[in-house]
Amino acid sequence: MIADSSPQISNAYRFSIAPMLDCTDRHFRVLMRQVSQRCLLYTEMIVAKALQHSTQTNRLLEFHAIEHPIALQIGGDNPKVLAEATRMASSWGYDEINLNIGCPSPRVQSGNFGACLMAQPQQVARCVEAMAQASQLPVTVKHRIGIDNLDSEEFLITFVDQVAQAGAQRFSIHARKAWLEGLNPKQNRTIPPLQYEKVANLKRKRPLLKIELNGGIETPQDCLKALETFDGVMVGRAAYSHPLRWQHMDELIYGEQPRQITASKVIKGLLPHTENHLVKNGRLWDICKHVLQLVEEVPGARAWRRNLSQKAQKRNADLTVLEKAAQQLEDAGL
Ligand SMILES: Cc1cc2nc3c(=O)[nH]c(=O)nc-3n(C[C@H](O)[C@H](O)[C@H](O)COP(=O)(O)O)c2cc1C
Repeated sequence: MIADSSPQISNAYRFSIAPMLDCTDRHFRVLMRQVSQRCLLYTEMIVAKALQHSTQTNRLLEFHAIEHPIALQIGGDNPKVLAEATRMASSWGYDEINLNIGCPSPRVQSGNFGACLMAQPQQVARCVEAMAQASQLPVTVKHRIGIDNLDSEEFLITFVDQVAQAGAQRFSIHARKAWLEGLNPKQNRTIPPLQYEKVANLKRKRPLLKIELNGGIETPQDCLKALETFDGVMVGRAAYSHPLRWQHMDELIYGEQPRQITASKVIKGLLPHTENHLVKNGRLWDICKHVLQLVEEVPGARAWRRNLSQKAQKRNADLTVLEKAAQQLEDAGL
C-alpha cells in the first residue's frame, strides 16, 4: 500500500531530461540547468549494488546544489539493496528516486534488472514497496510499454497497477516495447515503433496515476501537445544533442519570465563548475564534450567545435580554453 506519510510527488515536474548513461553526468546536468531552471534532471543509471562499496559512493552520488530538482536513477532487483540505496539517496538530498525497468542491455539483463523485470511485476512491486518504506523520498519507475511478447494493453495496465499499489508515484513510460533478444540497446531505441496511443489509453483508464511520456519527443511543441494528455514529458536524445532547443520551456510550461539564453551565457554559467572540477584533477574534456552540442546550425559552428575539441582534449588543457571559446561565441553574438 502507498504509505500515507510519503510526500506527494510534485505536480511541478512536467518536463524532465531522461537518464542517459555516459550523457547525463554531473557536467551535462549543470549545463542543462543553465538552460532550464525548472526541469527535473535525472542521473545516469547507477547499479544499486555498486553503492554498497563505500569507496565509490561519493563519486557516484555527488551532485551540486544547483542541480535540484534531481532524481537518482538506480537499477537492481533486490528489495533490501534498493531500500539501502533509497536511504542513501535521501540522505544525500536527492528529490526523487527512480527505478530503471526499461534498460534492455544484455549486461543489465544478466543482473536480472532493467527491462527484463517487466516480466516479474510482483518482484518490481516488492522492490518499490521496500524503497517507498525506506525513506520519505518519492519513488518513481521508468519502463517500457512491454517486452518481447508481453506487450498487450492488459499486460501494461496490470503491471502499472501492481507497481502503483506498492507505492510508485510516477510512471515514466518509454512508449515502445523492447526486444530482449535480437536487438541491441541502440536498436531498441529506434526499431520497435513508438506507440503513444497505448500510453494515452493507460492514462485514460488510470486518470489518477501520474504518467510521464517518453520516446521520440523532438521539440517544445511536441512537449506541449503531449502535456494535453500526460502529466509530464521526458526528453532524452533531443535534449542531449540540442540543449538550447529547450531554452523556452520554463516560460512555455511554467509561465516564468523569459530569459535571454545564449550558448556563450550557458558556457559562462559553467565556468565555476569547471574550475572546481579542474581543481579536483578532473579533465577539461569531461565538460567540453557536452559543451560542443551548444553550437549548431550557424556559420562557423563546425570550426568552433573542432577547435574546442582539439584544445580541450589536451592533457593539461585549462580553464582559459573554455573561457576563450565562450568569448568567441559572445563576440559573434551567440
Ligand atoms: C546514450 C543513452 C543512454 C541511456 N541510458 C539510460 C539509462 O541509464 N537509464 C534509462 O532509464 N534510460 C536510458 N536511456 C534511455 C532514455 O532515457 C530514453 O528512454 C530513450 O532515449 C528514449 O527517449 P528519447 O527518444 O527522448 O531519447 C538511454 C538512452 C541513450 C540514448
